[in-house]
Amino acid sequence: MSTDKKILVVYTSRSTGNTLKVAEAIQQGFGAQCDIFPAADAPKPDKYDFIIMGFGVYRGWADGDLRAYMAKCRNKNVGIFMTLGAWPDSEHAFNCMGRAEGLLSSCRVRAKFICHGRLDPAMVERMKLRPAGAPHSWDEERAKRVVAAETHPDENDLAKAQDIFKTAWEKIISGTAPKSRKKTKEAILLAAFGTTVKSAAAAYDNIERMVKAAHPDTPVFWAYTSRMVRNKLDKSGTKVKSVRGALNDMFLEGFTSVKVISLHVVPGEEYHKMLKEINTFSMPMAGFEKLEISPALLSNAERLNKLCDIVCACVPSGRKNEDAVVFMGHGNHKGRCELNYLAMAAELKRRDKNIFLATVEGNPDFETVREELKNAKCSKVYLMPLMVVAGDHACNDLAGAEDDSWKSMLEADGMTCIPILKGLGEYDEIGQLIAAN
Ligand code: CO
Repeated sequence: MSTDKKILVVYTSRSTGNTLKVAEAIQQGFGAQCDIFPAADAPKPDKYDFIIMGFGVYRGWADGDLRAYMAKCRNKNVGIFMTLGAWPDSEHAFNCMGRAEGLLSSCRVRAKFICHGRLDPAMVERMKLRPAGAPHSWDEERAKRVVAAETHPDENDLAKAQDIFKTAWEKIISGTAPKSRKKTKEAILLAAFGTTVKSAAAAYDNIERMVKAAHPDTPVFWAYTSRMVRNKLDKSGTKVKSVRGALNDMFLEGFTSVKVISLHVVPGEEYHKMLKEINTFSMPMAGFEKLEISPALLSNAERLNKLCDIVCACVPSGRKNEDAVVFMGHGNHKGRCELNYLAMAAELKRRDKNIFLATVEGNPDFETVREELKNAKCSKVYLMPLMVVAGDHACNDLAGAEDDSWKSMLEADGMTCIPILKGLGEYDEIGQLIAAN
């Protein structure tokens, strides 16, 4: 008798009906083997093998009825889905999901799904009346979010929800779902800014090779911190996860101990964005048992020296002492990590007076270095990116044909430029330094 396997969808849904829509879609996806009830009327969890619980986020939590039902679920295979007005991949969304998971701490969460839900129009009108600056008041950011949520959950969301929970169910009945979280299961997550330049990905491939060589028994996953890069890749059919998305998948796969290896050059904006995303997964109930994060490449004196050793050795051997070398770092217009770059520029200069470092967006800036180059009377300059990949900045800002590329400007100053368009990650020594984290 196959009817002994039973699935239950339990939900709480408010006036918008967003959560109900998703709940019904999931139930329809399973058909006769699946029951569906609002949390207040739901039967006891005992006879079900997979209980999928859904709610619309209200003040950061599920409604009381569902919370009470969650408390009744012990040692069950469960799924959680959530609709909310905030961005589904926001910190807020993951924190809300984390709270729900906390209530299900004795259960095994097999699948999770979060999607946008249209806000109640009456609530939107009330928000518009709130004074500026008050909590949930109206601003451009909120307006954008409300519009984005307007059409959700849509057909695509419903299909995705069906698919996620069906896949989880198949794993449960086939016995391939992770057994328990008691056994330590390690993984590595490589977190990079990301690139859309195909040739630049060689740097990432090389780093992955080095990391796998250093950790042969540990599965390696990828995440890109740049939403812009991810969206662009998505349009061309390549899906790369955000840090949160990747950690979420790894958690569901049963990994308990994760080492996040940062591919960032400095602990700047992107690095901190990454930390924030990781934070969500260090919550006591919904997090990993162990979650380590590696430092950025240029984050302390020891690493600074090591990095200088490596990049100086990467300068082509044909370079003569009187030839200049200019490294292009990224930098930040708000001055983040400026001191790291200034320290590196000083150390490079100390080692060799004709090696320079400038950044695209911050200090040390290119104009200063350009002056120094004029004074140094170098007639030949090697241009090299101090970035993990030779992506957009290297191809365009450093070596592009436009008048405002560093190459064009230095050529206008009468210098011969030799761009070396290799990302740091393409050098094995850098890959090894990253892998040694
Ligand atoms: Co940039």
